[in-house]
Amino acid sequence: MSPRLASSRSVFVVPLAAVLAAALLASCSSASPDASASRTPSESPVSAGPTPSPQAGSAEPEPESSPAETEEAPPASPTPPAFDATARSIDDPSSLWVVSDKLRPLDPVDYAPTDLVTPDVASQNPPTLRAEVAAAVVEMFAAGEAEGAGAFQVQSAYRSYALQVDVYGGYVQREGQAAADAQSARPGFSEHQTGLALDISPIPLSCPLKACFGDTTQGRWLADNAWRFGFLLRYPVDKVEVTGFMYEPWHFRYIGPELATEMHETGVTTLEEFFGLPAAPDYAG
Ligand code: DAL
Ligand code: ZN
Repeated sequence: MSPRLASSRSVFVVPLAAVLAAALLASCSSASPDASASRTPSESPVSAGPTPSPQAGSAEPEPESSPAETEEAPPASPTPPAFDATARSIDDPSSLWVVSDKLRPLDPVDYAPTDLVTPDVASQNPPTLRAEVAAAVVEMFAAGEAEGAGAFQVQSAYRSYALQVDVYGGYVQREGQAAADAQSARPGFSEHQTGLALDISPIPLSCPLKACFGDTTQGRWLADNAWRFGFLLRYPVDKVEVTGFMYEPWHFRYIGPELATEMHETGVTTLEEFFGLPAAPDYAG
């Protein structure tokens, strides 16, 4: 309603509303089901929904309103549907919700995404990511910088099966298999192979791929805000026994805003726990 109409209502419409309300009361027993269904919750004498409006059950008289206002009122918002945890596959490597861990190899193990692009962001090496993820990273880095967290760069993004052979093999050579398995996924088991995961570092570079990244302004901002852009800090410090990997405050996995928001709101921090999967501290063989 315009301000002009709002101010004139106090002078002319209220008495008219009283008359019309009396007329409506006299006719309400014959209201059709359709008319009743178009009511807003605050107009209903009894709330039948699971989430009553703030006015339902209140002894306060309803605000006076004209029939014209009643017609203009927006329909009551329906209760949002419950989150459907089966809406996407957790097995298909091309699904945004795929869960890859030490007990859940990618299937096929040499899976490669088909929509890789290079995001326009700073990076150590030109990275590629799936198109939706690349767009989300650009948006997230820009937001982080605009919100005072500093500048970001991509340290590592999509890695093919063959590249993961090299990466994992390098860890084994340098540190032995047990140490390698604590921090690097075996080929066919890495989220990096899905094109949905990336490792992030600050600009200027400090604490690259180290736990101290979590104490940088960039690391703290990402931990608090990545969910807004559809990302999950995949390897939290307190969930090593669930994920099977050491704390990686730099590794973010895209799961899409819907699931990221649900996990943020419910406080569940691992995909294994969210989807009721077994903890994956070790490989099966
Ligand atoms: N660093 C993570 C676990 C990977 O290699 O995929
Ligand atoms: Zn990573």
